[in-house]
Amino acid sequence: MSHHIVEASDLHYTYPDGTVGLRGVTFRISHGESVALVGENGAGKSTLLLHLNGYLSPRQGTVKIGDYPLTKKNLDAVRRSVGMVFQNPDDQLFMPTVFDDVAFGPLNLGLAKDEVERVVVRSLETVGVAHLAKRPPYKLSQGEKRSVSIATVLAMSPDILVMDEPTSSLDPRSRRRLIELLKTFRHTKIVATHDLDMALDLCERTIVLHQGRITADGQTKKILYDEELLRASSLEKPLSIQLKT
Ligand SMILES: Nc1ncnc2c1ncn2[C@@H]1O[C@H](COP(=O)(O)OP(=O)(O)OP(=O)(O)O)[C@@H](O)[C@H]1O
Ligand SMILES: [Mg+2]
Repeated sequence: MSHHIVEASDLHYTYPDGTVGLRGVTFRISHGESVALVGENGAGKSTLLLHLNGYLSPRQGTVKIGDYPLTKKNLDAVRRSVGMVFQNPDDQLFMPTVFDDVAFGPLNLGLAKDEVERVVVRSLETVGVAHLAKRPPYKLSQGEKRSVSIATVLAMSPDILVMDEPTSSLDPRSRRRLIELLKTFRHTKIVATHDLDMALDLCERTIVLHQGRITADGQTKKILYDEELLRASSLEKPLSIQLKT
């Protein structure tokens, strides 16, 4: 199942205003891995994730999804296989109703109308927001928007799930539900997060970004217990570890 592999090789990215986002990022994530991407504000997490389905193109370096380098030609195929939950739900939701937003992807895939309806209801139920189906997304609370964004991606049954801060603005019960849901997703997942307790719970591997570079890549437990590394990367121990020590 090599099509679930995500590879980045020497990625460099500079924003049009000259701000450097990535300074040479290399990793390989294989099928079924669950990887947390952590780092302080501005470390480059979102910039990196936006390269994984071609929203940004590197100034230097390559991204490979499965056996294929990410190029303009295979962008559509890559976007079908990589489901991306953006950090800002307003970048994800643009239809008049929640239902239409979740239906948008499956309709584009050519699914029949009754099948689309089933998928939409199932996806909204999975994240606990089926009652919002008729509401306009822009009038929802932040946490509600987050859950709907996640539903839009689940509705596409992606091979690879990429999520940027999926637990931010979620209440504790919705957060727990999401973590349990993600545990059942057996394909590759990459999650950028400040929720280090979630990283510890969900991801066996963690990549630490600091000022556009990878400063550590390894077992989550080892990394999140390494005080010196955390300090050097402007991070703090997860609460669950702080409480133990
Ligand atoms: N549109 C943009 N134009 C210019 N610079 C940007 C833009 N978006 C991000 N940056 C800069 O790129 C760097 C990396 O930002 P990025 O959003 O990837 O960080 P992040 O790790 O996702 O942070 P956060 O934890 O706050 O989400 C930062 O210095 C940021 O100021
Ligand atoms: Mg970000």
